Amino acid sequence: MDCRSNNENESSGSKMKCEYEEQDETITESSNVEVEEDTSMCEVGGDKTSADYYFDSYSHFGIHEEMLKDVVRTKTYQNVIYKNSFLIKDKVVLDVGAGTGILSLFCAKVGAKHVYAIECSSMADMAKEIVKLNGFSDVITVIKGKVEEIDLPVPQVDIIISEWMGYFLLYENMLNTVLYARNKWLVKDGLVLPDKASLYLTAIEDADYKDEKIEFWNSVYGFDMSCIRKQAIMEPLVDTVDQKQIVTNCQLLKTMDISKMASGDASFTVPFKLVAERDDYIHALVAYFDVSFTKCHKLMGFSTGPRSRGTHWKQTVLYLEEGLTLCQGEAVVGSMTVAPNKKNPRDVDIMLKYSVNGRRCFVSTTQQYRMR
Ligand SMILES: C[S@@+](CC[C@H](N)C(=O)[O-])C[C@H]1O[C@@H](n2cnc3c(N)ncnc32)[C@H](O)[C@@H]1O
Repeated sequence: MDCRSNNENESSGSKMKCEYEEQDETITESSNVEVEEDTSMCEVGGDKTSADYYFDSYSHFGIHEEMLKDVVRTKTYQNVIYKNSFLIKDKVVLDVGAGTGILSLFCAKVGAKHVYAIECSSMADMAKEIVKLNGFSDVITVIKGKVEEIDLPVPQVDIIISEWMGYFLLYENMLNTVLYARNKWLVKDGLVLPDKASLYLTAIEDADYKDEKIEFWNSVYGFDMSCIRKQAIMEPLVDTVDQKQIVTNCQLLKTMDISKMASGDASFTVPFKLVAERDDYIHALVAYFDVSFTKCHKLMGFSTGPRSRGTHWKQTVLYLEEGLTLCQGEAVVGSMTVAPNKKNPRDVDIMLKYSVNGRRCFVSTTQQYRMR
């Protein structure tokens, strides 16, 4: 992954949303024929080739290592569970997309009555072994299969826990799997952890990196490759943004209540108004998300914003066709439309409509992006 700064999982400044409880470092520590595309992230079976791993990325330990070493992510879940054992003790828990089983282990440790850990990739075999190695075989049942296809041994569960968030929050579309599980098995008034997820937008100055990643294609060793520029600018870039690049306010776009929402609510159009806090140029809009566990004794959660400690989700950078020249107090006004791609629902289509009616800049345009 290209990275303009090297601060992954290091503090990149003050926390943006300071309502969240600080992380407790003392706890031991996230085709003319239409062929239906298999968007499965689940096991592809047999002797795997590297191509199989590409389509079955969660079978390889590497991705789990990255998630587990994301201390913002994993320690938040651990703290939520360890500091709120009253929520979990003696309850039946469903871990949706269990991976190595880490969240199930946390729940078992604080006295869950039983944990059903569902994992479709071959990491499920490891999770079974891990559960055994740690003496939790009587509490945790690992079920290998797709949430949408398995038979759960119990009719209902008290709690659903899952780490389903993708880049730009919605990439990978695993949220649908959580909602499916919630609708099928969660007891009335049961808990979903986390229960809130919010998407934010801000704007940055990013001339150098836009030159390097986008304008580069205009002249490559003297040759015009601008047809690739058209593709490059349509792909949001997942990267770490330095908070010093932020030119405008950060605006909340959308909050989703995972305990109540319908799957269609993950497609939306929302307005935004980003007001410049200084005279500067704007080259990109930047999206990021936070998640909250509002049923904890104290509100807990984490942000993936550029002013918070780095996570493996970084931020999502949407480059603008033309740089905008904004004077302090002027605004970029517009709307963002977000929806799963129709052919491949794990991809996300994003449409930005925006305009500036300023002293030095007058723009009104629409750009399309696809997270793939
Ligand atoms: C983001 S990882 C989280 C893993 C683990 N819970 C953790 O926190 O480290 C999501 C996991 O869900 C699994 N998964 C995705 N969709 C699934 C589905 N429909 N059924 C079962 N597992 C699924 C993936 O294989 C992956 O291991």
